[in-house]
Amino acid sequence: MKRSEHEGGHPLRETVIDQLQKVHALKSGALRMFGPMLAEVQKQREEQALPEVQDLLEKMASAFGGHEATTREHERRVKARLRALGAGLSKPRQVGLALAGTLRARLGRIGGQNHGTGARDAFVFEHLEIASWELLEHLAERIGDTDTAELARECRADDDEMAALIRRNFPNALSLMLAGEGLPTFREAEQSEDAKGQQAEVSAEGAGGEPEAEKPGVGVREAARLRAEREVVVLDVRDEEEWDAGHIPGALWIPTDEISDRRGELPTTRRIITICRSGKRSAQAAKQLREEGYETDNVEGGMQAWHAASLPIEPPDGRVA
Ligand SMILES: [Fe+2]
Repeated sequence: MKRSEHEGGHPLRETVIDQLQKVHALKSGALRMFGPMLAEVQKQREEQALPEVQDLLEKMASAFGGHEATTREHERRVKARLRALGAGLSKPRQVGLALAGTLRARLGRIGGQNHGTGARDAFVFEHLEIASWELLEHLAERIGDTDTAELARECRADDDEMAALIRRNFPNALSLMLAGEGLPTFREAEQSEDAKGQQAEVSAEGAGGEPEAEKPGVGVREAARLRAEREVVVLDVRDEEEWDAGHIPGALWIPTDEISDRRGELPTTRRIITICRSGKRSAQAAKQLREEGYETDNVEGGMQAWHAASLPIEPPDGRVA
């Protein structure tokens, strides 16, 4: 906290506090909605006979469960910031009650049978949060309150990520909505499950060959930038001796043949970029994950290109095996 700046009585200081209190109210309101919504999704999962719909519900529960934890952390940080500024929460409680009342009717439906409407409302709510953080950030910057501005920026990035996740999942929300109404969930043009199975067998046979160049990957410089800005999780799919010889610091390591069994370790709210030695195995992994609904890109040229570009590896004197 910049005491000299804040306690000097800047005319906008009270406005910053007011905006922080509004954000706090928004977060408190959201936290009250997560429990009932997740319980409803869980109930539907137990009642659901179709495995693909169960799967979607599980993904949804995991994404919203993760965002509940993030929201709780936001609420804690805003509260701590208000305390640091010598302000309380009394005012937002009233604002919060009014706001929560308006939102309850909408958010209460997220997880209800109409998943299409639920996804729409969750998307709108994330943008309400994003706009509130934006206002707070710009306001705080005007009075040089860098701590509040940074808090707003960091939390806004989490809500941006959640909004993007919801957006990517509109097709899934639609499938859930249709399944809830007993209607067919898949596009007519889509292959039948049998045809998909046959195709999976064919690609497993040809796994040693060149991956299909279906989607261009990202270059190592771009990968390094995305990693530095914490926009992605790097997934290294190489074998143990390759990993031990040298890897990207902070990367998630799951060898290709273990990916199926270790799905639970993959992030659901962040884009994944896959890497191997040369970019071939990881292209296959990226393709497979993409087909399962993950947002995934391959790093072209793999660790060989990463190392050649002198990008950081761990240990610092490591090599590409
Ligand atoms: Fe959010």
